[in-house]
Amino acid sequence: MQPQWFKLDSVHSTNVFLREKVRVGEASLAAAWALEQHAGRGRLGRTWLSPEGGLYLSLSCPVHPSLSPTLYSVAVGVAAAEVLHEEYTTDIWLKWPNDFILPCKEKNESDTKMGGILAEYVLDAPQAPHVVVGLGMNVNTQVALPEGDHGLRPTSLQELTGTSLSVDMLAETIGHRVFVMWEALSSGHLRQFDLVLRWKEKLNTLGRRVRVQTPSETIEGLARDIASNLALILEDEHGTQRTIQTGDCVHLRPTSSE
Ligand code: BTN
Repeated sequence: MQPQWFKLDSVHSTNVFLREKVRVGEASLAAAWALEQHAGRGRLGRTWLSPEGGLYLSLSCPVHPSLSPTLYSVAVGVAAAEVLHEEYTTDIWLKWPNDFILPCKEKNESDTKMGGILAEYVLDAPQAPHVVVGLGMNVNTQVALPEGDHGLRPTSLQELTGTSLSVDMLAETIGHRVFVMWEALSSGHLRQFDLVLRWKEKLNTLGRRVRVQTPSETIEGLARDIASNLALILEDEHGTQRTIQTGDCVHLRPTSSE
């Protein structure tokens, strides 16, 4: 299947735009990217400020019946981090489940965040359920993070690299890599296990003390690993292993004894 590309100047939200296209059968494997969004959406109902200079890219595809839908967000996170490493020699990290961060260097500093991912589902698409994964990244912009992204300072690729990057080039390179990954996942040439290994290499959360707000509780502990169903395995203060499917995660600063 050849991917469709929608290049937009200004849109409310690339995720909403693409969800609508998918819902009415006008898109399936597709990418939408915009120079700016005027109603960008973040996770947990937050607003994603989206002035010109940032990357606002959404990618849609049918959900493969034997693959976890979460895997598509993982693929986008891995693709973006790998493209930045390989093409721009720039290392960025992921905070579970899918924020792009730079970890703090000093104990009294906090991590900085330059982007995030929002996955949404179109269950009533004509042929099959679809997933739309939206990637937002501060490239040449440095905007405030939404309320609720506590403990994180905003940063941008420009601040990190000291130079402005081509947003077009990033959108095309990351989008293309994601489509190649999706094709390989659907045909079985890329195993979930191998993709998750690549994800874990970029996941700065593992080995850190975290606080996770799930829909039902707040859990604090040490992030140990990723389960086969892509959940976070956390060891709580009683030494009990907890498996967390979804939540808002904060990296806690190391204590003075660590
Ligand atoms: C987060 O809260 O960290 C996720 C932010 C995701 C923002 C992107 S920008 C492209 C796509 N369109 C949207 O409205 N949101 C996502």
